[in-house]
Amino acid sequence: MANSSRAPGRSRRLRAALVVSAAVGLLATAGAVVLPGSASAASTLGASAAERGRYFGTAVAVSRLNDSAYTTILNREFNQVTAENEMKIDALQPNQGQFNYGNADRLVQHARSQGMLVRGHTLAWHSQQPGWMQNMSGTTLRNAMLNHVTQVATHFRGQIEWWDVVNEAFADGSSGARRDSNLQRTGNDWIEAAFRAARQADPNADLCYNDYNIDNWNDAKTQAVYRMVQDFKSRGVPIDCVGLQSHFTGGSNYPSNYRTTLSSFAALGVDVHITELDIRNAPTDAYRNVVNDCLAVARCKGITVWGIRDSDSWRSSENPLLFNGSGQKKPAYDAVLAALNNGTTPPTGNPTTPPPTGNPTTPPPSGGCTATVTPGQVWGDRYNTSVTVSGASTWSVVVAITAPQKISATWSGSPTWDSSGNVMTMRSNGSGNTFGFTTMMNGNSSARPQIRSCTAG
Ligand code: XIL
Repeated sequence: MANSSRAPGRSRRLRAALVVSAAVGLLATAGAVVLPGSASAASTLGASAAERGRYFGTAVAVSRLNDSAYTTILNREFNQVTAENEMKIDALQPNQGQFNYGNADRLVQHARSQGMLVRGHTLAWHSQQPGWMQNMSGTTLRNAMLNHVTQVATHFRGQIEWWDVVNEAFADGSSGARRDSNLQRTGNDWIEAAFRAARQADPNADLCYNDYNIDNWNDAKTQAVYRMVQDFKSRGVPIDCVGLQSHFTGGSNYPSNYRTTLSSFAALGVDVHITELDIRNAPTDAYRNVVNDCLAVARCKGITVWGIRDSDSWRSSENPLLFNGSGQKKPAYDAVLAALNNGTTPPTGNPTTPPPTGNPTTPPPSGGCTATVTPGQVWGDRYNTSVTVSGASTWSVVVAITAPQKISATWSGSPTWDSSGNVMTMRSNGSGNTFGFTTMMNGNSSARPQIRSCTAG
């Protein structure tokens, strides 16, 4: 997570664990340090991304949560969600001063119940404005926009990992100019005003600028967004991340310098996210390239595809997604999963050897089973741990983490949390007797998880 623009001491947490199910055979931690280049065998997109300290998400249309085929894939494969439309301005504030959070809350609830991270999309945008806002201008509009940012970010405080604070504020073409819009006409500082209001309302969410056609490093639009982010960082405007929508549909193509774009933004001191990925006809090579490019850039935090099945896509005629209309995995799915599984790329530094033995503890065998900790891969900012249970086939293991460390991902078990978020009860879920998790160090690089109990049944 970005934190360079945060006040010292502001704690950053991943509040939701990335729960990765069905990751049977997850290797990474089964007793050995994973060496660079070694392949793993995660069997879902989310599980594999989590092993690399990243997420793999999708846009969700809340109405489709009633479609069990859809929800089955969602829950199995993805550990991050973005509301496709339900957190847009027209959805949340259809009449001025009247907020309608029902559908958005339903998605957040679903995500939390599944341990998925939520991207908020989007607080300020020229498009999908309610009629009352479309008709506004000047100070009235500026204030209405800021009020929307404040109300919405406050409502969802504590539940949103990243906000797309401002979406699509730059013009296409060679001008490098801002896009003309009613918001832009309130004054050039509308973007930074929105970011400041969002930071004040939810200090713990990472705040992103999100746009399309900023994938090609040579494009004037990419350069213009880059200069804005550079300017924001230099002036202390609170921005943590840039989202590249990466719709390689509708006439846009994957550019060969995409990795340069990701790493150039990252070098400004912001995280980068691939927020709305879809690719016309879902070619395996372009999907593979996108994954490899993200994995090659430490600050590329994850990938969100813009829908699950081709039939769910906003550009369904281009068949741009990873699952076909029947919910079957397409070749692009296999390419993405393989690229994730082949990836190494710790975000910072090189993998190191596990922490000293004796630090991870094994509990007294009191509850009818024994949980044995095996330290896993260690990166600069986080480490993996696996826990193997013996003496029972169904079990619950209580694991305590030392704050400010935070568990950011789990696999092969069903976790629940105490109110502090630092004590996890992991229950067997049919994925075998070894579960695993990733812990963000958040500045404490020495503490290691403590097993409090192992209880059979
Ligand atoms: C699209 C949705 O997918 C459609 O259902 C809706 O009709 C229009 O918006 N950039 C964005 C997304 O930031 O919010 C857009 O989503 C796609 C382009």
